[in-house]
Amino acid sequence: MSVATHTTDRRLFRRTAERFTAGAKTLPQRYFVSPEVFAEEQKKIFSKHWLLIGHQSQIAKAGDYFVAEVGDESLIIARDQRSTIRGFYNVCRHRGTRLKEGTCGHASAIQCPYHAWTYGLDGRLIRAPHMDEVQGFDKADYSLHPVNLGLFEGFIFVNLADDPMPLEEWFAPLAGKFSHWNMSILRSAKRIEYDVRANWKLIFENYSECYHCPGVHPALSKLTPYDSAENDLCEGPFLGGFMSINKGKSLTMSGNACALGVNGIADPGRAHDRDRVFYYSIFPNMLLSMHPDYVMVHQLWPQSPKRTLIMCDWFFHPKAFERPDFQSEDAIEFWDMTNKQDWHVCALSQQGIASRAYQPGPYSPRESIPAAWDQEYLRVMGQV
Ligand code: FES
Ligand SMILES: [Fe+2]
Repeated sequence: MSVATHTTDRRLFRRTAERFTAGAKTLPQRYFVSPEVFAEEQKKIFSKHWLLIGHQSQIAKAGDYFVAEVGDESLIIARDQRSTIRGFYNVCRHRGTRLKEGTCGHASAIQCPYHAWTYGLDGRLIRAPHMDEVQGFDKADYSLHPVNLGLFEGFIFVNLADDPMPLEEWFAPLAGKFSHWNMSILRSAKRIEYDVRANWKLIFENYSECYHCPGVHPALSKLTPYDSAENDLCEGPFLGGFMSINKGKSLTMSGNACALGVNGIADPGRAHDRDRVFYYSIFPNMLLSMHPDYVMVHQLWPQSPKRTLIMCDWFFHPKAFERPDFQSEDAIEFWDMTNKQDWHVCALSQQGIASRAYQPGPYSPRESIPAAWDQEYLRVMGQV
């Protein structure tokens, strides 16, 4: 990194810190405990925004599918015979029955378990026993209901709105920003699901600062100085930047790189990325953490004001899996430990915030991104 760039990043960091934290306080209690606020979030955020639901490598072959729960809805995400990725509501067009109960699988068609109406993976109804005896019945009128679906850097997003902003438009501010990380070709080595006793916003706020790192993450703090954060996305729905990794180290249990690089670090222009970890929050349910040797992604699914399901995947370069130096567990174990440290303090925050003694507290200058995240949240909720 050039001195000029470094100075610019530092200035940007200071400006952001001043702008978002001057007088900024944490959100009032109701945002973390109220069923009414939770219901409003489901309506204004989770039923209207593009939501991360998976990665295209989960359904690599035609016929592969997975089932995903989005709020109260269940969706089937499938790769059809032409290799197009599609999404459908998991609802039979006959009498509404849930079509698929499992979490994932491979099939040539989707058959309803009730009366065996059968749909192609493109959603068309292809078989409906005895329905040809019904006057005027036309199979073409009973395709599965599609859900809006799109891909960004290989990640699959869905949107439950009737007429959402096109995905390309939504992600336009990030166009090309991550392309050298090769994320569309990466494969997950592991997924861990966490059931966290905390409001989903506490998870975002926790992810967005390293003020807590020295006390909460002693091992992480030895590898990446907590005060090295430099932000390059400072307002709006996409927030974050990077932190330094100590020279020659990696964020793993051993401290050594655990796999073939993912981000084109052979490019001399990007040599400095070898010593950085990039953290971005993508509103409203994705945390994207790009390391030189792997990419970690959290998907957040709020279950109630006090509970959030989190799915965490560790992605590697497809060629990394075959090599003798592939030590994915070294990274997985490191972040599983670090994740649990975070979930623990988030759960403690939830407990304290629920108390009658709680009052919004002041953010520090090292919490400019949580403050900016709160601003965006309130804007989307129509409350600023
Ligand atoms: S409800 Fe699906 S076939 Fe009858
Ligand atoms: Fe943390």
